[in-house]
Amino acid sequence: MKQTHYVAREPDANGFIDYPAAEHEVWNTLITRQLKVIEGRACDEFMHGLERLDLPHERIPQLSEINQVLGATTGWQVARVPALIPFQTFFELLASKRFPVATFIRTPEELDYLQEPDIFHEIFGHCPLLTNPWFAEFTHAYGQLGLAASKEQRVYLARLYWMTIEFGLLDTAHGTRIYGGGILSSPKETRYALSGEPEHQAFDPIEAMRTPYRIDILQPVYFTLPSLKRLFDLAHEDVMALVAQATALGLHAPKFPPKAA
Ligand SMILES: [Fe+2]
Repeated sequence: MKQTHYVAREPDANGFIDYPAAEHEVWNTLITRQLKVIEGRACDEFMHGLERLDLPHERIPQLSEINQVLGATTGWQVARVPALIPFQTFFELLASKRFPVATFIRTPEELDYLQEPDIFHEIFGHCPLLTNPWFAEFTHAYGQLGLAASKEQRVYLARLYWMTIEFGLLDTAHGTRIYGGGILSSPKETRYALSGEPEHQAFDPIEAMRTPYRIDILQPVYFTLPSLKRLFDLAHEDVMALVAQATALGLHAPKFPPKAA
């Protein structure tokens, strides 16, 4: 596991997390800004999920508030975790329909970009679509697959996650829209993803698993689903057979420069 300088806040005996005012302010800045940027760019399913969550603007929401909505829609829950968790814990949580949320928020110095997923990324970026049955089913199946996978297979699964749940695009009647939480929690990447600059490829799970990525740059290539139901269908395919095919074919050459040492 990598190093982190963030520490997740602990709840009190009633499960309530008391964030300082400055942290509520960071949430307010992030959500106010991002709601404007995603307009006309996020897919309808994401917007619908946001409506259901009805997130507060002036304060960081408590996980119990999110759980009420997720529980009533798809049966999912969020689970409080430390800043970084091992792969094994990550898969265990998803396999039991619990989405990990580290209860810390980025500092004002890292407002635009941070490599560690904070509570804004997890709640604003991922929870809206966890109210969608197709997306929820895929995320659940993904956790079960990951739990049973070998270390080598998990590397391929990680790319599939990256190219869908984090950085996926969607074909819609009004053009290409975004559903990936990694994009939708970042103002810069939300604009860039649909700017015409990066490459868009029709989603193919084997191709997605063969595509290398870097977590510290804007993505050079995104995969576009024909519909969100494609994820549900994929959840019922033999994904591990696709992993085997992707492994046999090998990785594509990266479309980004190597990370400077
Ligand atoms: Fe994420």
